[in-house]
Amino acid sequence: MVDKDAVRRSYDELTDAYAAQRTEDGRDAALLTTFLDSLPDSPRVLDAGCGRGTPVLSRASAKGDAVGLDFSRGQLRAAAENAPGASLVRGDMAALPFADDAFDAVVAYWSLIHLPADEHPAVLDEFARVLRPGGRVLLSEGTTAWDGENPDWLDTGVPMEWSIAGAAATREHLREAGFAVVDEWGTRSSLKADRAEEAEDRTPWTFFAARLES
Ligand SMILES: C[S@@+](CC[C@H](N)C(=O)[O-])C[C@H]1O[C@@H](n2cnc3c(N)ncnc32)[C@H](O)[C@@H]1O
Repeated sequence: MVDKDAVRRSYDELTDAYAAQRTEDGRDAALLTTFLDSLPDSPRVLDAGCGRGTPVLSRASAKGDAVGLDFSRGQLRAAAENAPGASLVRGDMAALPFADDAFDAVVAYWSLIHLPADEHPAVLDEFARVLRPGGRVLLSEGTTAWDGENPDWLDTGVPMEWSIAGAAATREHLREAGFAVVDEWGTRSSLKADRAEEAEDRTPWTFFAARLES
């Protein structure tokens, strides 16, 4: 099972390597644009696991009042440069330091997959708590459940860990947290390095858009 402190330490070291691999024009960026355009005017958006603040936080802050949350100091330092209009908060997605009903939308791109799968329902409960009724969520998960680690992620010598609940479980967790799933898409990775490995499997990742029912 994922060691969250180890994940946090690794992201502190990996900010630049991750940035070099992260695509800004993939399917996830297109889904984000459509999602942000569908929100009410000047939305208050939480980017949960905001990383280095792009592409999600910078685009959300151009649309309205954006808050980026991450537990890695290294990633938050980069986010302050890449999304200067956003507020930044250091914290754990499993215990959000925000009031109830504080946001119109939550985006969680490639972040839920780093928490232990048995914490994913609690994270979705937290998203529901901080969203106003009718609020929206857009998040990514792995399509198939797996747990794993890479001792040399992105050829950096830095280890990384993942815990994937899978699309079927996530669909059910969203429902249990009070969300209605509005749409879902299978996608490739947003990392250049993963593309060749994923040649055989075109949808190893699933994105969900959901609405909080009252
Ligand atoms: C793969 S990066 C994705 C960053 C960004 N969302 C993107 O789309 O490029 C995962 C991010 O989630 C953060 N993260 C992982 N687990 C977290 C947790 N429990 N609480 C807060 N942030 C977390 C990591 O520090 C990292 O910045």
